[in-house]
Amino acid sequence: MTAPAAALAPLRVVFVGHVDHGKSTLVGRLIAETGSLADGKVEQIRAQCARRGMPFEWSFLLDALQAERDQGITIDTTQIWIKTAQRGYVIIDAPGHKEFLKNMVTGAASADAAILVIDAAEGVQEQSRRHGYLLHLLGVRQVAVAVNKMDLIGYDRIRFAAIECEIRTYLAELGVDPTAVIPVSGREGDNLTAAAVTMPWHLGPALTAALDRFAAAAPAPDLPLRFPIQDVYKFDERRILAGRVESGRLAVGDTLLFSPSNKTARVKSIEAWRVLTPPAEARAGHSIGITIDQPLFIERGEWASHATDAPIETDVCRAKVFWLGRHPLAKGNGYTIKLATSEVRATVQSIERVIDATSLTPRPGTTVERNEVAEVTLRFPGLVALDDFTRLPRTGRFVMVEGYDIAGGGILSMDAYADQRALVTKRATNVERVEHRVTASERAKRNGHAGTVVWLTGLSGSGKTTIAIELERRLFDLSYLVYVLDGDNLRHGLNADLGFSPEERAENIRRVGEVAALMARAGFIVVTAFISPYRSDRERARRAAGGNFHEVYVKASLAVCESRDPKGLYRRARAGEIADFTGVSAPYEEPETPELLVDTEMQNVAMSVDAVVRYLRQGFRAV
Ligand code: ADX
Repeated sequence: MTAPAAALAPLRVVFVGHVDHGKSTLVGRLIAETGSLADGKVEQIRAQCARRGMPFEWSFLLDALQAERDQGITIDTTQIWIKTAQRGYVIIDAPGHKEFLKNMVTGAASADAAILVIDAAEGVQEQSRRHGYLLHLLGVRQVAVAVNKMDLIGYDRIRFAAIECEIRTYLAELGVDPTAVIPVSGREGDNLTAAAVTMPWHLGPALTAALDRFAAAAPAPDLPLRFPIQDVYKFDERRILAGRVESGRLAVGDTLLFSPSNKTARVKSIEAWRVLTPPAEARAGHSIGITIDQPLFIERGEWASHATDAPIETDVCRAKVFWLGRHPLAKGNGYTIKLATSEVRATVQSIERVIDATSLTPRPGTTVERNEVAEVTLRFPGLVALDDFTRLPRTGRFVMVEGYDIAGGGILSMDAYADQRALVTKRATNVERVEHRVTASERAKRNGHAGTVVWLTGLSGSGKTTIAIELERRLFDLSYLVYVLDGDNLRHGLNADLGFSPEERAENIRRVGEVAALMARAGFIVVTAFISPYRSDRERARRAAGGNFHEVYVKASLAVCESRDPKGLYRRARAGEIADFTGVSAPYEEPETPELLVDTEMQNVAMSVDAVVRYLRQGFRAV
């Protein structure tokens, strides 16, 4: 039994394809063929054309509809409603890559499915492949292909088969399996709503049947709440936080957590436009304003969520970027990143992989050219709120802006980086600091030196522990008060509850940073030997020590550490027996400006220890 049209929520379908591939004609004709136009509209446009002495084109329908709907509203895509016997559709026409990216990202036109339009006469072009890649990148997994202008190639079955084979092969490499590849003619109306007599050999569905086969959109209200604040309006005493609920639902009385400011407040009221009684609840897709019960200073760009299932807070993340910029994307460059309603600056910390979007071949490189795709690591100057794309696609997408121009876009992932929210959330209340009656300088005077933190960082097998233990012996013999905190040792006690996930490593380093800072304040030279792979964690340890901190990069390449493999762990990691192994399946972020670098490929243990002792004695009076 066919479900009545009203029973199914409308599906958002984006039509992508090269401008010359007859997309507008196809969509125009589809609107007419599905009876989605007001009576007389086609005749009206035909008459207009006749008056102007122009031949009638189906694509004019689109222009006419756009002119009617978009008065005063600037959006980069045309949105048109059509209806089949099954359900309604919002047809989104994205004229080019940039518009497509922008609209997919801003949510104005996030699509549930896509029709990839290819010109039968031209075949699969680079542009078609790039469009396919964009769909894949942005997570539009339901795709059907319309091979258009079949009339121009005389409905040639063989040529169609060749195009079908080529596009299927390309999409298969991306993990996209098109639900159908349909030979059509927008101009003649073939295979749009019914099987065409011109192509009896086509056994698959017509275009509307292919649309009807797409699965309904996942219900966004069941996902975690994301309400990015678009604007803050002040009416008399009230402040109204306005925006669109991107996912989940929000009710009066709910406690909201705002990110990245980490403030909380309760929803006092929901103000919706064009309704008489204020609603008690709002859900995904609704544009609303809310008032809250606290006089918090909330700005555009903050994201409201519930405390559980909150967005990630981080100053670093991974991204898959589709690059369209005029200048290449390069390591060290800064860009503005738009994430829902927030705009943040980001620096490209590293480029992991560059991929040609048309051939799908990776190439080594430190720059990304226009139309290439890359996997990069982005660094933000402070904490930002974001989502992993695989978890929340709507808020896990972004665009990059260079000047005023959209230069790229893509999707975000945390991929072995930690959510840092737990580390910034302070839970203790009603606590005050106690002043010591013994001062730091009194301690230093008695010990003959001040306390400090010497932070060794480097890959597993780089030599941190060996150097730390030797250094402890040497400094002790020189009468320094010294103690080593070592990763393996602390993980037997204080940190025995922690594993190696990004969050657990971050917590490991947070605790060590605090303990080291305490011991340094007590007067010790604290030598720490931890991989401490994340820059953010090391920076936090530096802050905990109040700047009394010396970062020593114990450097050896991954290849060398792996060949040393003192504990046989690299071998096991390569065999897949140890997950998240630094350097193999988890990142190591090299220090950018360590106070000291010891290269253990060039220097033996004694030389390395000498270097650290020399460095320390410059700043410490020997007893
Ligand atoms: S850190 O990344 O959190 O700083 P830490 O220095 O405490 O790591 O511990 C590193 C030691 O744990 C390594 O020298 C190694 O012996 C062991 N280890 C076990 N699993 C892992 C892993 N997945 N990645 C790195 N080291 C590991």
